[in-house]
Amino acid sequence: MCGIVGYIGHRDAYPIIVKGLQRLEYRGYDSAGIALFDGEDIKISKTKGKVEDLKQKAEVANNLTGNLGIGHTRWATHGVPNDVNSHPHYSNSGDLVIIHNGIIENYDTIKKALTKRRYTFESDTDTEVLINLIEEVKKKEGVKLGKAVQIALNEVVGAYAIAVFDRQKPDEIVVAKLGSPLAVGIGENEYFIASDASPFIEFTNNAVYLEDEEMAIIRLGKEIKLRKIKDDAIAYPDVLELKLNLEEIEKGGYDHFMLKEIYEQPRAILDTYRGRLLPDQGLVKMAGLDQHIEKFLNANRIIIVACGTSWHAGLVAEYIFEDLARIPVEVEYASEFRYRNPVITHNDVVIAISQSGETADTLAAIKLAKERDAFVFGVCNVVGSSISRETHAGAYTHAGPEIGVASTKAFTTQITVLTLIALKIAKEKGEFSASKFHEFLTELENIPGKVEKALDSNNIVEEVANVYKDSSNCLYLGRGYNFPVALEGALKLKEISYIHAEGYPAAEMKHGPIALIDDQMPVFVIATKKGHYEKVVSNIQEIKSRKGKIIAIVTEGDETVKSLADHVIEIPETIESLTPLLTTIPLQLLSYHIAVMRNCNVDQPRNLAKSVTVE
Ligand code: AGP
Repeated sequence: MCGIVGYIGHRDAYPIIVKGLQRLEYRGYDSAGIALFDGEDIKISKTKGKVEDLKQKAEVANNLTGNLGIGHTRWATHGVPNDVNSHPHYSNSGDLVIIHNGIIENYDTIKKALTKRRYTFESDTDTEVLINLIEEVKKKEGVKLGKAVQIALNEVVGAYAIAVFDRQKPDEIVVAKLGSPLAVGIGENEYFIASDASPFIEFTNNAVYLEDEEMAIIRLGKEIKLRKIKDDAIAYPDVLELKLNLEEIEKGGYDHFMLKEIYEQPRAILDTYRGRLLPDQGLVKMAGLDQHIEKFLNANRIIIVACGTSWHAGLVAEYIFEDLARIPVEVEYASEFRYRNPVITHNDVVIAISQSGETADTLAAIKLAKERDAFVFGVCNVVGSSISRETHAGAYTHAGPEIGVASTKAFTTQITVLTLIALKIAKEKGEFSASKFHEFLTELENIPGKVEKALDSNNIVEEVANVYKDSSNCLYLGRGYNFPVALEGALKLKEISYIHAEGYPAAEMKHGPIALIDDQMPVFVIATKKGHYEKVVSNIQEIKSRKGKIIAIVTEGDETVKSLADHVIEIPETIESLTPLLTTIPLQLLSYHIAVMRNCNVDQPRNLAKSVTVE
């Protein structure tokens, strides 16, 4: 996710754009930039770092006049965060300038074609490719900017919210949207463009939110005209009168970032497999993996190092890799691994998982593994983070910034990346028939829709939360793939509601924990139809016979568990290896609602930090 802001009107653009970018920093903050048209030329200032760094740079370097401009605060997906990769980007002629939030999947193919036509590129970004494609179309077809944008976008595969303007025609801005948000604020003889309304709500509360595959040419003194990118059909703007305040807008209308991020998971999972999961071609493509696939194919074992929720994602990966790819896997707490003098050999592959990419223990574990000659692969959410730079190779989750301290979309997108890796290796090792592989890829592609459906359980989860919000202790049980989800569910509850909770493999109950069961002990049991369902049902009966309270996460339509449990929360059916992506959803919602009911600080829980950069 990135933040985009644009302005054309009677005021100075600079202060509006910079303040707007500051309000969008929650969307991405690894680099920032601004392009202003000062009446003659386009002036660009851009820098690695935050908007504050941009202000310092811009206010030293350039005159900041002009009533036309665009600005960008970045969350890198292609190209590490640095000055050159920051937006805005010029076209080769210097006439056109663009800002972009999204991912152009086929940028490499387009870049190769443009390079043949002697285009050059300063940055590693997909966005610089797009602006030069628009320039090439404009020249070749002899059309205006709006038409050139439309033709170019019909050649593009991916997601975008863009704003483009032409130095030769500085009375208009062209915008377009597919998959990333774009709002146009409509003022008195002025227009605002932004990823959400926070940059312009103080100037106007009249806004148009573009729909997917819509574009607009925004000209002063003219009504905003929307067009369909595909067929040029005219679309009529639905001008909304906004009633949101600033804080509500930043959180997308949700009360907390955590809830927003729970609901972002369908999009985050889709963005994470976008361009990598190709069921029609029976392919998984992942550059960082493809270049080193032999390391994985020849590995004696895979060692996964991580902390907290990322460690739970690693446990899920252990089941996936051993089940599908038949490679031995060990999952280690990074904090233990780094100090216990582990046996590591050249034939080991170490996978380091980290949302922030800055966790000190995980970074130290990586360095130890490298010293002992292992190949180290990173799975991070922050492009250019310390861990992503320290590992030999890696794959990013494309979850966008995770602001809530309690990790949610990072967990499901980590599992998505790890599943793609395991699938690729399993296929290369011949563990999968082509038809089974295709079936798996297709089901993975269905997951965002099934996560949406799992989110529909929110009201029932809230009712359950209200019943158990005053509990002092809780147990979470799961088997197989869902044992790590039980641990994750317990961690979520602990860290934001401060209720003591423990996760266990369901079969472990009789080895001690069942002594805890009484009518004051809520037991959250993941009892989906896949895996050892009958055995979990027996565990439920053991608990019930001791008056424990059972709250079961079940496959939709399950009547058996419904007859035993005090509460059931239904989720859609999927294949066993993918159930963690769905069973975790109600447990995230449960911890959220209980924390809210207990008036806890959901986004910044006591004693915790988003990134543990110290031991
Ligand atoms: C999870 O909700 C916590 N925020 C915490 O356990 C976190 O997962 C852990 O600190 C690891 O962080 P990382 O993924 O950024 O390395």
